[in-house]
Amino acid sequence: MVVIDAILVKGNGPLRGEVAISGSKNAALPILTAAILFRDPVSIDNVPELRDITTLLNLLSLLGVRSVRRGKRIVLDASGPLSHEAPYDLVRKMRASIYVLGPLLARVGEARVSLPGGCAWGPRPVDLHIMAMEKLGAEVSVDHGYVVAKSPPGGLRGATISFGTSSVGATCNALLACVTAKGETTLENAAIEPEVDSLAEFLAACGAPIDGIGTRTLHVRGVDRLRPVPFPVIPDRIEAGTFLAAAAITGGDLNVTGCRPDHLDAVLQTLRDAGCEIETGKNSIRCRGSLPPKSFDITTAPYPGFPTDMQAQMMALASIGDGVSRLTDTIYTDRFTHVAELVRLGADVRLEGNTAVVRPVGGLSGARVMASDLRASAALIVAGLVAKGQTHVSRVYHIDRGYERIEEKLRNVGASIERVREEGP
Ligand code: EPZ
Repeated sequence: MVVIDAILVKGNGPLRGEVAISGSKNAALPILTAAILFRDPVSIDNVPELRDITTLLNLLSLLGVRSVRRGKRIVLDASGPLSHEAPYDLVRKMRASIYVLGPLLARVGEARVSLPGGCAWGPRPVDLHIMAMEKLGAEVSVDHGYVVAKSPPGGLRGATISFGTSSVGATCNALLACVTAKGETTLENAAIEPEVDSLAEFLAACGAPIDGIGTRTLHVRGVDRLRPVPFPVIPDRIEAGTFLAAAAITGGDLNVTGCRPDHLDAVLQTLRDAGCEIETGKNSIRCRGSLPPKSFDITTAPYPGFPTDMQAQMMALASIGDGVSRLTDTIYTDRFTHVAELVRLGADVRLEGNTAVVRPVGGLSGARVMASDLRASAALIVAGLVAKGQTHVSRVYHIDRGYERIEEKLRNVGASIERVREEGP
């Protein structure tokens, strides 16, 4: 018998109060992985306590990188001998494990990393990661489900890497590989998500000259040795966006603190379109929702466009809107596993290719639903905040991958939400 967690949510009226945002999962992952490049201990601050962070630290430990957590600070030490194999059992738990490819090639000269495989909503190739390593001179092949790579004699060499598609992961991997390569590397059509900028800022603070941070063209001059400096992880913009959607859907009044409003322009604009009153401070966003929310259209795009990681949560909001909303995902054209579950809660959502057409319904009603991935589970909880009766969300291990103590944070602002243990399938 397997015992698993589920989350029970009941509609409980408008959320009110303050929510403090944690460090960003997607910024912490590549920065923690960069520890492989250092021969001295590295201290990273504001690291959230999440399943994905634990998975990464387990992988790093397997490679020979020791880590100690003291509250929100993690000290990582890769000064000892390192191995170069990232096994399937760990990589299958978290795609971002592929980030070890670049730093292992740079530090150890070889890497054997399991292919991450697909996710709940379809194939997620790593061809751009492989292309970048090959441009830096590595020999790369895929063998029995593993990316097998070897650096050229004398180590990786600087090069021009041009990404056909803007990729957060491939840009991070290329950055991690080229900061200690011989000579200069140019990354063209690099991703400019805040998480990518933050990695570049960390590496630059540790001594790697990087020009063009925040632009789609990065120039990196490789250095022999990086010198660690303590570095804080930026706030999680998707966690902040999720709480703003929770305020909007309940017609509540939430002040989201310890966040970066400048990282959420597209999301804030859509919330305004939905009729929310938005006030931003230096590190805070106040959102006052008005019901019913107005209908709105979203088309996801690379940053600074609308983030695909907020599409599901905004679909929950649109499902109680006053008109027809259209949500198009151009990053992951089949990222719609949450649709059937929202329909179970009474939403009217129909797919037309990579567009979800959401028609107004009088209200949602609680039901048993199943989370399929991290953001889908967040959307089901957001919807459950306004559904009549109880919503029972199973497979919440997905939510623990990317949200720190979500039910506690929601309860503190008036939500009726609890976590229960139950027998699993
Ligand atoms: C990052 O994934 C995030 N994950 C994702 O968040 C996020 O959805 C995504 O960026 C887009 O914003 C982390 O940061 C750990 P990409 P990543 O490479 O790096 C295609 C969450 O919920 N592509 O920018 O994997 C790809 O298929 C997660 O926190 C290739 O074709 O995304 C997609 O269509 C889910 N070949 C597009 O590029 C490649 O080699 C963008 O993907 C790589 C990507």
